[in-house]
Amino acid sequence: MLATWFYRNFLAHLLFLLDPEEAHDFGLHLLPASTGMLKVGRAAILSDDVLSAWPRLETAIAGSRIANPVGVAAGVDKNARYVSSFHEFEFGFMEIGSVTADYSVGNTRPRLFRLPADQAVINRMGLNGDGAKKISARLDRAYKSGMIQFPVALNIAKSNLPGLHGAAAVADLLSSFEQFQKNNLLYVTINTSCPNTHDGALNEASELKLILEAISAANCRNFPLFLKLSPDSTDEFMQLVVNLSREFALAGFVCGNTSVSRSGLNTNNAVVTACGAGGLSGPPLRERMLSQVGKVSLLKDSSQQVIACGGISSAADVVAAIAAGASAVQLYTALVYQGPFLIMEMLAQLALALEKEKASISELVGNDTLGQKLLAHLPNR
Ligand SMILES: Cc1cc2nc3c(=O)[nH]c(=O)nc-3n(C[C@H](O)[C@H](O)[C@H](O)COP(=O)(O)O)c2cc1C
Repeated sequence: MLATWFYRNFLAHLLFLLDPEEAHDFGLHLLPASTGMLKVGRAAILSDDVLSAWPRLETAIAGSRIANPVGVAAGVDKNARYVSSFHEFEFGFMEIGSVTADYSVGNTRPRLFRLPADQAVINRMGLNGDGAKKISARLDRAYKSGMIQFPVALNIAKSNLPGLHGAAAVADLLSSFEQFQKNNLLYVTINTSCPNTHDGALNEASELKLILEAISAANCRNFPLFLKLSPDSTDEFMQLVVNLSREFALAGFVCGNTSVSRSGLNTNNAVVTACGAGGLSGPPLRERMLSQVGKVSLLKDSSQQVIACGGISSAADVVAAIAAGASAVQLYTALVYQGPFLIMEMLAQLALALEKEKASISELVGNDTLGQKLLAHLPNR
């Protein structure tokens, strides 16, 4: 499609002349200014046929309606500065954050690296952000001014400080959660799977239990709670986590975060090693994401939902993830390589494929037979 072709062949080349983090910030700044381009792109992509099939994309997360199942992953807009722009690009929902208790600069730069041969990224941002109080107030202002009319979820994480464990870690997470009690939120994700902090992803069921106990007790607004899992989790740990999630009536899981693994990359080994530590994201995660979505879907209660995240970059990927058991998907790295018009283009293809099968997104959840039929109408990944 033309808009994404233009991004891949022109804009991405210009942005890739910049340092990856500067390019990310610059790209975000461009979003609100791209109204003209948005009008042209929208008119080209959202034809009458697509618009009449559009309602087939509608679905729900934790009982709340979303216009379509494709969301912005955590980390893209950590500080909730660009929420209304993402809505205009037709995302169905977004997760802001990860938000931590206080302002944090994160790890030292450089901390973001592109691996173009894999369309992937390695990052060790280390949870930089404005802090819970500022971000909650910003989100509130945006709602009150009518700038936001689409579902926003919150992702919270423990502050990236050495030796923050047990009761202190719980109090830290809780203080972020409590800041958002007056906000309008689709759901809240607890991110204990970030590999880029002093402690790395949490693999301790006992600490996770303390966290879930405290957050559930403080959840006066009854926000649906999701837990973000690491693609590096063992089957044993996933089973433990799902058991805990039942005890605390969690709404579901985001599968998943970035990975510390470097296996199966096309990029030259020396280039990968030079990037150093960090979480890998993008297409190399796709197969592991699908496997984790499948496993968690089998383990969880039928009332719980899975949101798939990891290497999604096409309408076919969305179909594969939902057919594997996810109720919705999120993406980050595909935006770096293909730009924001990718979303409208993927959704248009998906809506037309659903129309051909007279089906809806909710019918696709865990339905491999329907998945195969839809894939036959879609371009290959
Ligand atoms: C630069 C960068 C920053 C990220 N920051 C966060 C974060 O703050 N919180 C979080 O839960 N996930 C974070 N993620 C992980 C993404 O939300 C997502 O789980 C991961 O990138 C896999 O999806 P993708 O392959 O579509 O990028 C970050 C990812 C990247 C690339």
